[in-house]
Amino acid sequence: MRDKARAQGRRVVLGITGGIAAYKTPELVRRLRTAGAVVRAVLSQSATRFVAPGALAAVGAELVDDEDRGMPHIDLARWADIVLIAPATAHLLARLAMGAADDLLTTLCLATEAPLCVAPAMNRVMWEHPATRANHAQLLERGVLFVGPGAGPQACGENGPGRMSEPLEIAAFLERFWGETGALRDIPALVTAGPTYEALDPARGFTNRSSGKMGYAVAAALAEQGAQVVLVSGPTALAAPPGVHRILVTSAIEMREAVRAHREGLRLFVGAAAVADYRPETMAPQKLKKQADTLTVTFVRNPDILAEVAQWQPRPFTVGFAAETEALEDHARAKLEKKGLDLIVANPVGEPGAGFGTDQNRVTVINKDRTVAWAAAAKTEIARQLVREIIKRLPRN
Ligand code: CTP
Repeated sequence: MRDKARAQGRRVVLGITGGIAAYKTPELVRRLRTAGAVVRAVLSQSATRFVAPGALAAVGAELVDDEDRGMPHIDLARWADIVLIAPATAHLLARLAMGAADDLLTTLCLATEAPLCVAPAMNRVMWEHPATRANHAQLLERGVLFVGPGAGPQACGENGPGRMSEPLEIAAFLERFWGETGALRDIPALVTAGPTYEALDPARGFTNRSSGKMGYAVAAALAEQGAQVVLVSGPTALAAPPGVHRILVTSAIEMREAVRAHREGLRLFVGAAAVADYRPETMAPQKLKKQADTLTVTFVRNPDILAEVAQWQPRPFTVGFAAETEALEDHARAKLEKKGLDLIVANPVGEPGAGFGTDQNRVTVINKDRTVAWAAAAKTEIARQLVREIIKRLPRN
């Protein structure tokens, strides 16, 4: 690690599971220690077949085991600045995905609020198996950081993805992560997310297929950087991300009120909600009874929350989303200009693997002088990348 300060004093719980790559972990500990981190190592039972605890202790790791009454899992979970699992076997990923808590390592992963970072290592067929793909996707969705795996020759004689990243790469990954963390410390930010629901009568209404996943991932990524995040969310099935103050709303009008209530001192606004453009003109006080063969509902325009925020004086740095089914870039750029935004994130809808309800997304990020198409990635990763863009552009004041 070049920059000592980033790792200096960071408390790393290193979980080691039983893969052949565990033999590389003393080198990983050595690199982390040299950079100034404090390392406590938790070995799974099978890990000891591939690395000697004595070798880890010799390079400065403090060993913690299941029987150690002096360091129960809760203390260790609180102590950690990060929980790093290297190597992480296919079995470990499966247990993390299901929320197992049957040994010290999995228990502390459930009990910690620190970021969790994993470096998978397994045979390529196991990595590509649908079960592992599903576990990987689920963990990404929960914001777990993945380093690797790399591709290349494997211990089992095969060639392909599944090799644990080298200790140097893992250490560099953490260095980057720590270098970025805290860049938005105490910056007031507001994110809208999810759909809105526009009532027609007490039992029925109009909504859309937004799951809220993209906006929630943005809120989580901002909180990860230390921002004071308010998440104004329409109805979703998602849990509030840690460290985020969530306000639940139903309609566009309620969403606008909640946003306005946080105007004072707001530095960053990200409109990721799929706000209904129209609402029924009136809400029937009682459930509508069927009568004629057709029903005509009159809709009226909802306020454009994003466009309103972009007009505030002073205004926060304003980021919008554009969901498009055609002419993605042209439509998104037109919205950027018309609404007066700093940045717009355009994503295709109606294609597999992007847009509403999916865990993946493929976006094009546009500002007044640049258009950049990003590679498809998990929404959590897109969110982190977007936050990095915001950090670069946010006016300092
Ligand atoms: N948005 C908003 N309030 C609205 C409508 C949209 O804040 N009433 C925000 C969304 O959160 C998103 C952006 O505006 O960040 C773009 O929304 P979108 O529905 O894609 O575009 P519209 O401006 O509504 O245009 P159109 O429906 O014509 O595509």
